[in-house]
Amino acid sequence: MSPLRFVYSFLLVLVTLARGASVRADPQPIALPDLGQAITEGDLAGYFAIPPSGAGLPPGGGTPAQGELAYANHCAACHGDKMQGMPALGAPALTGGRGSLATGKPIKTVESYWPYPTTLFDYIKRAMPFDAPGSLTNDEVYAVTAYILASGRVIESSELIDASTLPKVAMPNRDGFIPDPRQH
Ligand code: HEC
Repeated sequence: MSPLRFVYSFLLVLVTLARGASVRADPQPIALPDLGQAITEGDLAGYFAIPPSGAGLPPGGGTPAQGELAYANHCAACHGDKMQGMPALGAPALTGGRGSLATGKPIKTVESYWPYPTTLFDYIKRAMPFDAPGSLTNDEVYAVTAYILASGRVIESSELIDASTLPKVAMPNRDGFIPDPRQH
């Protein structure tokens, strides 16, 4: 490196350092990105959980007879016309299998496995139909819930399912769950 080039490089370094120092000494205000918006009551309505007590169940109701049509229109394509499920689609059977859990071939369904009736309303309203979750009215969700429970002979075929009757439905496997005694 020639002496002239050396001096030039040295000056360049000094100028660069000075610039850096001046930026540090005089920071520009940071422009925050204009993202997001305040959450509304309507937004929050999509987030719910219905516990076994039934707290939060909405008004409305439905019978198995009313649920039959809604089931045919919105559920049967995946779960089958007899609720037998369609393994190729990943859609489980919704009824059957009662008494099979302790056998070598346990079949877990709403009827044979689920401990709480309220979970059925919660799950259908939250997640079904799989390809259009949230699209059913509360009456339709109550009605298909009633239809599934009646098809599994958990309730009578004439029973009205609503916020007061659903939590009282006795699920066949309610006592099949035991508290885990191990220390967590
Ligand atoms: C497009 C296909 C499709 C449609 C339509 C559909 N489901 Fe499902 N359903 C599924 C699939 C797939 C699963 C499994 C989801 C998983 O395990 O995450 C499922 C799971 C369920 C379960 C949980 C079963 C269990 O034991 O885990 C219930 C209950 C259920 N669906 C009810 C309904 C009802 C009621 C309707 C009509 C309102 C409906 N589904 C419409 C595909 C569908």
